[in-house]
Amino acid sequence: MLILGIETSCDETAAAVVRDGDVVLSSVVASQNELHAEYGGVVPELASRAHVERITPVIRAAVAQAGVALTDINAVAAGHRPGLIGSLLVGVAAGKALAWALGVPLIGVDHVHAHLYAGALRVGPGEPRLGVTFPALGLVVSGGHTSIYELSSWTLMQRLGATIDDAMGEAYDKAAAILGVPFPGGPNLDALAATPGANDRLADLPVSRLGPGSLDFSFSGLKTSLLYQVRGVPTPPRDRPPDPVPEMTPERTRDLAASFQRAAVRAIILKLDRALEHVASRGVHCRTLLTGGGVTANSRLRRELAEFCTARGLTLSLPPMAYCVDNAAMIAGLAEHLAAAGRFADITLQAEPTTSC
Ligand code: KG4
Ligand code: ZN
Repeated sequence: MLILGIETSCDETAAAVVRDGDVVLSSVVASQNELHAEYGGVVPELASRAHVERITPVIRAAVAQAGVALTDINAVAAGHRPGLIGSLLVGVAAGKALAWALGVPLIGVDHVHAHLYAGALRVGPGEPRLGVTFPALGLVVSGGHTSIYELSSWTLMQRLGATIDDAMGEAYDKAAAILGVPFPGGPNLDALAATPGANDRLADLPVSRLGPGSLDFSFSGLKTSLLYQVRGVPTPPRDRPPDPVPEMTPERTRDLAASFQRAAVRAIILKLDRALEHVASRGVHCRTLLTGGGVTANSRLRRELAEFCTARGLTLSLPPMAYCVDNAAMIAGLAEHLAAAGRFADITLQAEPTTSC
């Protein structure tokens, strides 16, 4: 099938044409980074207005770059949840309108589930298929989500754990703001932490475990500890003066970035280990780790995930850089499997800001 995918859940306006679930014929992403940079984060109202302006040219470009005509498209897939409601509405409305006008089926795709599919996309038509073996464990780490899944197939997945406060990418962005690292914080903090000579043990920042068997994540304590390293503890005991805060030199900033990165990545590996044990206790032996989301672009996380999978005998599905962040190829790719399972939507498809699965 030739599926046109549409993605507008946050601040990327994206469209892609994917053949047979994994051959990416085109993937166009119009980033709004420059639009939100001066505010230090995504402004929902600005994002949705920008989607309205960009969605039609982006879809046109995706179809043109794929070398096909709109009338060749067999189905339209739209990311319909979760995300910023004003942003989602634009992509869902565009998807409905196109599917209706072309007389082809519409498929609603969960954005977080689609992130797990990003590593199964082929960058070029000559590249071999990934050949995912199920059951698989899934990890999504992005600006809005940090979740672990158990997958029996591409269309049967269960969330085992999720963040109870900040998402990992959000924690990176806030840590970058604390350290004075410019927007976009995540990639810039990663680059700083990876500078040769960076000392990732400068500060022993906390790795949240939550309850003994918990598969959930928490990044707010890590973020607060980093803040205290920069500004000092706000309420020291009354009987002694506050500890002096070392001056924030470029070296200290770099080393705190590396210390933050070390703790954040350790939290992920720890929970993946627990999740493997958890499913194994039910007799489920995962063969693959599927990963996705903007933070899978992180250099240290990529390295540690590879080491983790080698040590546990798992095949690692790590998206190519272009498909780590939000894109529509992952939406169109997963939609092929939803279509094969008969999971079509219709004109009543709703944009939903949250997801419960
Ligand atoms: O998946 P994505 O594009 O959007 C959401 O669905 O949230 O993820 C964006 C997030 C941002 O928080 C960004 O700072 C983070 O991914 N990110 C990174 C890196 N590249 C992107 N975080 C850490 N290291 C990176 N290299
Ligand atoms: Zn995303």
